Amino acid sequence: MVVKAEAAPGAPRIVTILGSTGSVGTQTVDLVSRDPERFPVEALTANRNATLLAKQARDLNARLAVVADPSAYAELKDLLSGTGIEVAAGAAAVAHAAERPADWVMSAIVGAAGLEPTLAAVRRGAIVAFANKETLVCAGSLMMEEVKAHGATLLPVDSEHSAIYQVFDFERTDSIARLILTASGGPFRTKDRTFMAAATREQAVAHPTWDMGAKISVDSATMMNKGLELIEAHFLFGIPEERIDVLVHPQSVIHSLVEYVDGSVLAQLGTPDMRTPIAYALGWPARIATPAERLDLVKAATLTFEAPDPVRFPALRLARAALQSGGGAPTILSAANEVAVQAFLDRRIGFLDIERIVEETLTALPHRPLRDLAAVREADADARRIAAGRIQATGATAVGSR
Ligand SMILES: NC(=O)c1ccc[n+]([C@@H]2O[C@H](COP(=O)([O-])OP(=O)(O)OC[C@H]3O[C@@H](n4cnc5c(N)ncnc54)[C@H](OP(=O)(O)O)[C@@H]3O)[C@@H](O)[C@H]2O)c1
Repeated sequence: MVVKAEAAPGAPRIVTILGSTGSVGTQTVDLVSRDPERFPVEALTANRNATLLAKQARDLNARLAVVADPSAYAELKDLLSGTGIEVAAGAAAVAHAAERPADWVMSAIVGAAGLEPTLAAVRRGAIVAFANKETLVCAGSLMMEEVKAHGATLLPVDSEHSAIYQVFDFERTDSIARLILTASGGPFRTKDRTFMAAATREQAVAHPTWDMGAKISVDSATMMNKGLELIEAHFLFGIPEERIDVLVHPQSVIHSLVEYVDGSVLAQLGTPDMRTPIAYALGWPARIATPAERLDLVKAATLTFEAPDPVRFPALRLARAALQSGGGAPTILSAANEVAVQAFLDRRIGFLDIERIVEETLTALPHRPLRDLAAVREADADARRIAAGRIQATGATAVGSR
């Protein structure tokens, strides 16, 4: 990870928020709107939620608002007419938004759709606050090469990676023995496979500690989220897979830990509120105040820990195997998972079909080396095609009352 020279504390920082209408995006907007003079807004982007995007653009006096879905363009244009705010639409326009001169870019689009815009910000050498983990999973080595080549700064926003970042000794990486990613265990932590086989969309997105977008909530329920985070941690911190452990910690108070060779273990703690890691990245290297509830350890009283159950949650094993296999395997894993999660959210397949479809897609495709972005796109497209075929076959034989 490339760390830039410190900016003057408190100096204005022009920001762009990719995915401003989502869970991470709206929480970023919340923080930015508390100090508009320090954080002037260049661009905001969404997929198709023109109503919220237009409101945010007006409230924050953004210069540009972009929807990825061209069918939302007319509505956005109408909502922002007379404001002087530029309006654009399409996937290329989202990437162009990231090319505009903002000092700090929040990458909070969900899924591989975030790859090109995130890369566009990286190639400008911007400070990139990085929530969109699928991007690093699908193109980890290439992304990290681009970060180095362009002198960009990647600041993790995932609470676990932000925690590690805050206690990780970048000067002496050989003193680090292992990373320990904590996991809440998700809504099905105590459920058996029979329960999971019949689980509904509503049950899967009801996360016990975090309020998040639908896709990451389902990923938490399958624990694929932790698998994606493991791959993300590997690329961000350069620690091999076998030295990254996962620890189930249902209270989500300890956000992750770093164990050093002398046996010391450093951790970052806080209440489960994404505004804390977002604020860490927004103010970095300075700390900025947030309205997040303060941690009261007396009130929390009991913190518990368990090993993840590989039998009930095979997604973690799949992610580890994909990282070990290397090349396009993580790309295939993430793309197949995206397609399968969407099918589950659309009630076309059952909950346990998600992991099966990911595993079948990983088995069906070769794990070729990823030499360039074209190879990433090809592996991603192949995985989506195979996964879609499996979903169609599943849907034809199964879905009744979901
Ligand atoms: N939520 C959390 O607490 C959390 C924590 C850690 C990491 N993350 C990661 O952060 C990322 C965002 O998660 P989220 O929970 O904020 O997701 P979310 O609530 O679903 O929001 C996704 C955002 O991306 C936009 N978007 C969706 N598809 C797009 C496309 N094809 N092109 C351009 N923009 C698109 C959405 O626009 P519309 O609103 O118009 O659909 C929305 O602004 C994910 O990678 C997730 O894993 C999230």
